[in-house]
Amino acid sequence: MGALRSCQTYFLISTLVRRSALRYTYRHGASLNERGLFITLEGIDGAGKSTQLRQLAAWLREQGHAVCVTREPGGTRVGERIRHILLGSPSTPITALTELLLMYAARRQHLEEVILPALKRGELVLSDRFNDASFAYQGYGRKLGEGPVYLMDQLICGRTQPDLTLVLDAPPRLTLARARKRSRGNHDGRFEEEGMTFQERVRRGYLAISRREPGRVKIVPAGGSTVRVQQHIRELVDAFMRRQMKRRASRRSIVRG
Ligand code: TYD
Repeated sequence: MGALRSCQTYFLISTLVRRSALRYTYRHGASLNERGLFITLEGIDGAGKSTQLRQLAAWLREQGHAVCVTREPGGTRVGERIRHILLGSPSTPITALTELLLMYAARRQHLEEVILPALKRGELVLSDRFNDASFAYQGYGRKLGEGPVYLMDQLICGRTQPDLTLVLDAPPRLTLARARKRSRGNHDGRFEEEGMTFQERVRRGYLAISRREPGRVKIVPAGGSTVRVQQHIRELVDAFMRRQMKRRASRRSIVRG
């Protein structure tokens, strides 16, 4: 009899917990839905992200959006110091797992200090790289595999994932020379110095991510002119913003109803 009662109590409690969890998720989901939008730009070294990101930010601001532009690794004072450790001295060995941990250490600071507050203010966050870079560079480029990256990602980013990711895609034979030329002046060359086959693996990583998440991750062929690439990016962002507005409007009417 005692066992039966404790069994009933257990089921009652677990049902209540499940119900309140559902309610919490619904409410939390609704508030997440009202947060700002998070867009990331990715690609192998020298694909031209930074120029495209600047132009995209200017265009979005012209349309009246509050835009927070940031980058990884970096984006905060601690993050920039970690960036210096990661990229500053290509001749100092760093193991693949250490590299991953440093990327995610910088990312956590970036999330708490920059990204989450901006999203909470309802801004549009544009980040030059984010967590997909770890999947592509550490997971594929460094051959750590997706497992360890996924684990870190769950711990550090959790539900804060990009809403839209644009991957500027071009073969390394087109991008590597540009990346090397640029990094000669600022000593950011650890990854460029890995060479063509490394960049090929990173590229394969990005393509794999886009196949897995075609709704979020869009490939932008980056071999054409800057103007053409920017035009393509704006079309994708425009379509994304329209979808988001529709979705939000219909959610709002469900919540009210
Ligand atoms: P970035 O400043 O974007 O370099 P670039 O402008 O030359 O593309 O990024 C610096 C390097 O850091 C770049 O080679 C990619 C690498 N990186 C990773 O390996 N993992 C990561 O998670 C991130 C964010 C960047």
